[in-house]
Amino acid sequence: MDPVTASLVEIHDRLGAVADGEVADYIPQLASADARTFGLALVSMSGHCYSAGDTDGPFTIQSVSKPFVYALALSELGPAEVSRRVGAEPSGEAFNAISLEPGTGRPANPMVNAGAIVTTSLVPAADPQDRFERIRACLSAFAGRSLDVDEDVYRSEVDTGDRNRALAYLMRGAGSLSGDVDETVRTYFRQCSIRVRVGDLAVMAATLANGGVNPVTGDRVIAEPVAVRALAVMATCGMYDTAGEWLLRVGLPAKSGVSGGLIACSPARFGIAVHSPPLDRAGNPVRGVIALTELSQRFALHLMHQPGRHTATVTDVTTALDHPSYRARTPGQRAVLDREGHRIVVIRAQGMLEFTETEHLLHALREFVPDAPGWIVLDLDRVTRIAVGPAAMLGAALADLATARHELAIAAREPLLDPIADPGPWTPFRSCAEAVAWCEDRLLAVARSSE
Ligand code: DON
Repeated sequence: MDPVTASLVEIHDRLGAVADGEVADYIPQLASADARTFGLALVSMSGHCYSAGDTDGPFTIQSVSKPFVYALALSELGPAEVSRRVGAEPSGEAFNAISLEPGTGRPANPMVNAGAIVTTSLVPAADPQDRFERIRACLSAFAGRSLDVDEDVYRSEVDTGDRNRALAYLMRGAGSLSGDVDETVRTYFRQCSIRVRVGDLAVMAATLANGGVNPVTGDRVIAEPVAVRALAVMATCGMYDTAGEWLLRVGLPAKSGVSGGLIACSPARFGIAVHSPPLDRAGNPVRGVIALTELSQRFALHLMHQPGRHTATVTDVTTALDHPSYRARTPGQRAVLDREGHRIVVIRAQGMLEFTETEHLLHALREFVPDAPGWIVLDLDRVTRIAVGPAAMLGAALADLATARHELAIAAREPLLDPIADPGPWTPFRSCAEAVAWCEDRLLAVARSSE
């Protein structure tokens, strides 16, 4: 058994004995869930799936649908319009609390029922059927397979959902919800009644953790900034009135639901889901909360814990004296290069350049490039990626060097800096040897002209 599965199995086998919590019974259909059901699934950023326990039985997604429908509304309407209609502050109250912003009637956030009902109503559609179909299709894209509805749970919700109806009428009275209340609430109930397996939820969580690209299907479901926003609201509001304690102890964006589903997203690492129907007093699955608390500690997943990666970004700083191009030169040219080759500085970097790594590289440029105008080879051949902000930082530093009359050659297999400046004040090369040869040629030309 692989070590990831072994961890899940160990947690499953041990926590299966936890008997705390109550199965939700305010929706009659949910009360029939087996309290012993317990399944866990984890999906990595490469789309590999690991699981333990009861993973076959479908259950209704319930409130775990909320961040995904929020992401859909954000994609369709943009953040400004969505923020005008739904806040992003933790309510500190139960999921079905009647708490609206004084004055505007705007619900606190999209993770509590009031906010989720407004969010559902925001999804643009020709009619309620179309709206639900768009929601179902979106959740299916997150899961990577076509999801359907548990009609019995749906009917049970419609029959007993007076509190949600009351909430919706209050919001319409306050002006924060428009349209037909009954139809909107029915769409929300239908959304909560979408049927999933724990593995589906893990893929959905992994898609958010992966910046909006489903790691199993490879499809982009939402834009990266939308995924970031959904994760941020999950981090502050996803666990209802225990969201603060959850962020302290687990430190991951998460969302729970009354049928016992729980997802957590470890950005750029994995999505994880637990299904276990008994809930604590806040409405979160008891075994799921313990499992995630343990996993977070075991694998050091807390978002605020970012141990320095300490990988060497700048691997080599040399000059053309130590690393000449080996191009054929006349004895006269060789003599010039032996005398002046130190003016060609070669800086080699590797890995992914985010803020920390780029700051390291910029520091090396300041430290090793002499003030007197010369030639700089930046060898980025082994740089795998450079984020947009850091690329702009690097671009600005290179522009300053060009202004100070340094000539710049950048060696990279990929056009890493094209997004910030194409053409920039540098000459691109496919290899470091070509870049050094070009600098030597330039140096020889300058030396000749000053003879
Ligand atoms: O609004 C309701 O009553 C449910 N259909 C969904 C609520 C839910 O899952 C809240 N989560 N803890």
